[in-house]
Amino acid sequence: MLELRDITGGYGPAQVLCGTDLRAEAGQVTALIGRNGVGKTTLLRGLMGLLPDLAGEITLSGETLLGLPTHRIARAGIGYVPEGRQIFPELTVMENLAVGQRRPSRNWPEERLFALLPNLRERRANAGRALSGGEQQMLAIARALVTDPRVLLLDEPSQGLAPMVVQELARVLRQLAGEGVAVLLVEQNLRLTEAVADRILIMARGRIVHDDTAAAFRAAEDDLRHRWLTM
Ligand SMILES: Nc1ncnc2c1ncn2[C@@H]1O[C@H](COP(=O)(O)OP(=O)(O)O)[C@@H](O)[C@H]1O
Ligand SMILES: [Mg+2]
Repeated sequence: MLELRDITGGYGPAQVLCGTDLRAEAGQVTALIGRNGVGKTTLLRGLMGLLPDLAGEITLSGETLLGLPTHRIARAGIGYVPEGRQIFPELTVMENLAVGQRRPSRNWPEERLFALLPNLRERRANAGRALSGGEQQMLAIARALVTDPRVLLLDEPSQGLAPMVVQELARVLRQLAGEGVAVLLVEQNLRLTEAVADRILIMARGRIVHDDTAAAFRAAEDDLRHRWLTM
């Protein structure tokens, strides 16, 4: 579905992505992990058209995305839940959802959205700033869903969340994959990653150094952690 080939780019002369290849399939959670600073966020930003000099190939079901402006990439079917949630603190839940929505959602009308994210239903009239961290994260996900994405990118969604909320997040991500969404999850939380991922990719120095099933990851976990994940 989503395919990235030989992606290079970064910030000016600082090359961060050095030939990244990645696929995310519909109906699967693809997890991307790796030490701090290896380029995970940069890759997601690049995918969304937020880096000026990205090279390589990015396609969604064969349609070229690289070079398109961000709003066209979103419209093509990529939803982005950035690091730190980035919701509007002064706006209510419903107003947050309306921002950036061009038309009523086809796939995620209110009923279905709140069935997936039940905590948000009760909070619909509350301001973003009044929500708990977990509720803000669910709102950030909801805001991406109402644009009807075929691919959902999430950048460390479990950051700062209590274990119970991380479990809820795991349920939501599994359910989204079950509905046919291609979920691309960047995470530091290995427990969450192993609980939800179909495939686990490890990034180091701007490229993918491991790409296999979650079962294969678990089988080689000690070695992989030692080589690529611990500081
Ligand atoms: N806006 C920026 N300008 C310059 N360098 C940046 C910027 N953002 C990140 N970097 C650098 O790019 C590299 C990759 O960062 P990032 O993609 O955030 O890594 P990760 O998400 O894997 O922790 C790091 O060396 C970081 O310092
Ligand atoms: Mg990051």
